Amino acid sequence: MEIIKSYKSMQQYADRIRSKQETIALVPTMGFFHKGHLSLMKKAKEVSNCLVVSLFVNPTQFAPDEDFDSYPRDTERDLALAEKESVNVMFMPEREELYSSEFQTYVNLEKLPNHLCGLSRPTFFRGVATVVSKLFNIIKPHYAIFGQKDFQQLAIIRQMVKDLNFDIEIIGVPTFRESDGLAMSSRNKYLDSNQRKTALCLFQSLEKAFALVQAGETDPARIIAKATSLIESHAKTSIDYIKICDPMTIEDVVTIKKSALMALAVNVGKTRLIDNRILEIKT
Ligand code: PAF
Repeated sequence: MEIIKSYKSMQQYADRIRSKQETIALVPTMGFFHKGHLSLMKKAKEVSNCLVVSLFVNPTQFAPDEDFDSYPRDTERDLALAEKESVNVMFMPEREELYSSEFQTYVNLEKLPNHLCGLSRPTFFRGVATVVSKLFNIIKPHYAIFGQKDFQQLAIIRQMVKDLNFDIEIIGVPTFRESDGLAMSSRNKYLDSNQRKTALCLFQSLEKAFALVQAGETDPARIIAKATSLIESHAKTSIDYIKICDPMTIEDVVTIKKSALMALAVNVGKTRLIDNRILEIKT
């Protein structure tokens, strides 16, 4: 496994791979790997000869009051896990390598960020779209793999790839869950044992919503009310949003017709967790 830190060397490496007619798959990460990340790497290995994993805690997607400084980091462990997954290259640039002091170009989407996480984190998706475009230009992948846990992020990347004509296939991989259903996230590390139990209420409310829709419920307001009371029955939770929306536009739906996306963000103590699930009417 190679470790590359400079963007120039990464571009040259990508050119060499492409000139041999081999394919590159990129898994963009902010490190602190868990099984969810490893499932993205496995998927990447299925579709390509050369797997590049980027590890960069991207400062532009954190607001000043967010957890950039305390975001969990463990590079040595990440490298050992990447080696086991037969990663070909770890691209690990320093901050200055991607953002010089003169940096001034950002990628902004007009509509998709104006919902869900974009409302409470107004600069988050601008940071994500910007860094992902930079990674695409540097690593020149044929495929890029993202988790469906960050459903809005995945929708935004797909739209950006279409709008900016990137010649890259975006692959979404299902959310990897703990055995009790909690979606894997690097931020789960912040939870103490009581909060860890409480955190399960996100998954439970999605499961309950799924069962309601399967039983014939089509009114998002009634489903959201039930999910709200389930979550609020747990101490130390505060709901950022619970939404039932169109998976393509991320806009609220008034009635569930065939299927819809339910997405939620909940603070458990100080830790903000997100999760989502497609709700489908029984046919
Ligand atoms: O999902 C993440 O870990 C990040 O948002 C990403 C896509 C690596 C961009 O920094």
